[in-house]
Amino acid sequence: MRGFTTLVWALPALVAGQKPQYPPAFPANPILPSSINYAPSVTPNVMDPTAPNAQVVCPGYIASSIEETTTGLTADLALAGPACSAYGNDIKDLTLSVQYQSKERLAVKIYPKHLAPSNQSLYILSPSLTPQPEVQYGSSKSASDLQFTWTNSPSFQFRVSRASSGDVIFDTYGHKLVFEDQFLELVTDMVPDYNIYGLPENLRGFRIPNNFTQTFWNAYNLDNDQELDVNSHSVHPVYLETRYGNGSSLSHGVYARNAHGQEWLMRDSSITYRTIGGSFDLYFLSGSKPADVISQYQTGIVNTPYLPAYWHLGFQQVRWGYQNWTNLQDVVDAYAAQNIQLEGVMSDLDYLKVNRDFTNNPGHYDIEPGKEFLERLHANGQHYMPILDPNIYVPDPTNFSDAYPTYDRGVELNAYIRDSNASYYIGVLWPGFSVSPDFITPQAHQFWTEQIIAYHENLAFDGFWLDVNDATSFCTGSCGQGRIEENPIHYPLAFPGDANTSVAVDYRFPEMFNVTNATEAASASSAMMSQSIMYPTPSATPTPTVGRTLATPGVRNLTYPPYAINNFLPGHSLQKQVISPDATHNDGPFNSTEYELHNLYGHTSGNATYNALKAVTPGKRPFFINRSTFSGSGNFSGHWGGDTNSKWGNMYFGISQALQFSIAGITYFGVETCGFNGNADMELCTRWMQLSAWFPLYRNHNNRNTIAQEAYRWATTAEATRRIMNFRYSLLPYSYTLFHRANVAGETVLRALAWEFPDDASLKAVETQFMSGPALLVTPVLAPLATSVQGVFPGVAEGTIWYDLYTLQKVNAAAGENKTLDAPLVHQPIHVRGGYIVPMQSAGNTTKTSRTSPWSLIVALDKNGQAKGELYLDDGISLAPNATKNVEFSFTNNTVHATVSGEYNDGLPLANITIAGISSHTHRVSVSLGGKACNSRGAKFDHSNGGVLSITGLQHATSGGAWSGDLTVELQ
Ligand code: NOJ
Repeated sequence: MRGFTTLVWALPALVAGQKPQYPPAFPANPILPSSINYAPSVTPNVMDPTAPNAQVVCPGYIASSIEETTTGLTADLALAGPACSAYGNDIKDLTLSVQYQSKERLAVKIYPKHLAPSNQSLYILSPSLTPQPEVQYGSSKSASDLQFTWTNSPSFQFRVSRASSGDVIFDTYGHKLVFEDQFLELVTDMVPDYNIYGLPENLRGFRIPNNFTQTFWNAYNLDNDQELDVNSHSVHPVYLETRYGNGSSLSHGVYARNAHGQEWLMRDSSITYRTIGGSFDLYFLSGSKPADVISQYQTGIVNTPYLPAYWHLGFQQVRWGYQNWTNLQDVVDAYAAQNIQLEGVMSDLDYLKVNRDFTNNPGHYDIEPGKEFLERLHANGQHYMPILDPNIYVPDPTNFSDAYPTYDRGVELNAYIRDSNASYYIGVLWPGFSVSPDFITPQAHQFWTEQIIAYHENLAFDGFWLDVNDATSFCTGSCGQGRIEENPIHYPLAFPGDANTSVAVDYRFPEMFNVTNATEAASASSAMMSQSIMYPTPSATPTPTVGRTLATPGVRNLTYPPYAINNFLPGHSLQKQVISPDATHNDGPFNSTEYELHNLYGHTSGNATYNALKAVTPGKRPFFINRSTFSGSGNFSGHWGGDTNSKWGNMYFGISQALQFSIAGITYFGVETCGFNGNADMELCTRWMQLSAWFPLYRNHNNRNTIAQEAYRWATTAEATRRIMNFRYSLLPYSYTLFHRANVAGETVLRALAWEFPDDASLKAVETQFMSGPALLVTPVLAPLATSVQGVFPGVAEGTIWYDLYTLQKVNAAAGENKTLDAPLVHQPIHVRGGYIVPMQSAGNTTKTSRTSPWSLIVALDKNGQAKGELYLDDGISLAPNATKNVEFSFTNNTVHATVSGEYNDGLPLANITIAGISSHTHRVSVSLGGKACNSRGAKFDHSNGGVLSITGLQHATSGGAWSGDLTVELQ
């Protein structure tokens, strides 16, 4: 039996022609009885034809006592008939508040008129949890881009339109307002074939289909995370709508500031917005281009994305299954030996002692060798980021050797979420029965900060990735109550990679593996068969179905609310695999429950972690990525796209996912490159390493029960990675400048073609190509067995010129042509847009060494022979750098101009300028820096075919620092 087990874990690696890596070594702990993992099923209302239609049965409201001011109006709204109790208790009296908050932003709020202090948190989302914008000084109705109109006939309805044209952008006319304690509904009419984008998180197409229901309830499915089209780890109730006509377009945005479980039902001619609590807190943004809407959302409402440290832009490697420091060192060494950049390594749960936070796994990840490992890493300019989970193991009080001081400290501070019966809420996570810090309280922040500081004093790690804060619990309810003596119990199902289980080895391979590796595919499928016979998947415990619950006067049903949203987890229950909605927080006098706060757990735990990391390294920008996010999280955290599968389709949808998060203001986003669940193969991993090289967070991560997939595992992947990373690292100055623009102005790093070319309706659903900033167009290969790829070149009809970034030759593409581009495996097509100047530095082996190379510029000329660009510089790490530099580039009249402001000086010269699309010949240059002529005698000129001028040897002219003053380089 033992021999077979060994073979089972080793087989996929063997069939893929590799040495197996790091076999899983978890002992099979006593398994928690499956009976405990139990949540009755529920039928989601959107699937239940007998569910009442609130638009039919409810009476709506009538407005009265209207009071108008220059910045808006207030009114009373009274229920217009007998309560309908559709899915809750109707709130009879409401307040309407309309605020013209700025020229571009209109707020419409509807909330209960009578709110006792103790039940405010049920309806009002506190500004301490996520930003709530106010009226800006100087705003007024007369100065607004938007207009609010309303009627009482037959009941209260409203419209938001553009002041300039009267175009209606949000229209509830003909629909009733429904406001109950556990159900709110609003319907807006939409134009035919409407184009909306955003509403993350979801793995789906970029343009949201007009027949799609977006459910929002943060959830994690260990068996099939990142399923397509379903609720996921984050909630951002914001969308961008674009309407095309007459060769141009207008875009606007809608943000619904509500964190409750909710659904957005996109239908042919309307969108129905339903939540299971809270209030209507709506913000309309006038745009009128997509980039304006995104910027108005970020700068005006949720705050702009944080500026990552320079090193955060390097490549990171992680896997679940690196068993000790030696494994990590091997990985670091292998990247170096293969000459592939590696900025950081991360640890998954493996480093922890039985998965307990702030510990180290004895004999595997001991502190002393860890310190030595980190010293070596830091000396190389590399970094180490372990995982952190927001759940704290509850030790067995009867077993002295099970003591866990971290838990005790949280008890001392009263830092944990409670069960409704006032004792701690004890769920199950990786370590066993666990409690969860109550991150809406100051004592939980104190607890978390203390623990993180203390851990950092032991081991100088460089940041965290915060996991399972969806908030996950693998049993239903406070299942550990009265049972903590059983700890450490094992998670109720098998961990991926647990020996002698149906998930010991994941045998899945990407599509077409059976063609490219027929023999190996056959062995894998027969091994899969053997494993499933030997260890059949335990059948799920049958659970009864709770029928539709009815509204009970004066009572909120927290676990099975009358309106059931379509949570994708089996059984659909709100209790499934999360901290139960009836768990109670310590925010007396409110005693908020998870029902109101579930979708904010990721956001609040993320905020606490970010602040703790700031305390660890005062004044420096923390490395922090967060698995679960809410509106506003981008201001302090990045995000990874969950446990995506090693499948071509998952890689494909990662682009749309990244664009959704660009809208939401989470700029530092990336997906698990090469896929997390299932095995990657050479081809998929090669293409994915190429694609992710453009994602701000660039990390390769996979599951414990799969084969190794580091970028050096296959020679072709390694070669393709070296080539693409050469671009990524050379382009760091350009990317860092984009992040700076995102931080100061709510601009995006990754962009849809439709945002850069907003008037071209043919681009409205393009999700196979994207732009990095305004200048670079990426056309990734997203399918197996391809040696070419098709892509469009926007703007050609208006005279936009595109150049191949590798050769700087003009692309010969007709307007609207879907052009076939060569894309052998090691090559990814990248193009630069005429009219842009891109600052670069030669790639070093880390971001640090890359920053020491002399400067170069690519100048891609537009049809008028001009170009412009910019560069932002600072020390790359300080939260408030004491010196910065902005450089504005332009190319006009055969002269490169660099106009500088700010004091930061890196002292590096400008060595090369390469100009694409130039026809005149140059024989010498005249350089002036800070108004003084410089000696440019070392300069060399090379005119290649196709209008490329390469000027090298300029470094002597600017040896004191190219941007130490205004610079001109005149071509003569
Ligand atoms: C879920 C995370 O998404 C994944 O990245 C991690 O490997 C596992 N948890 C185990 O920690």
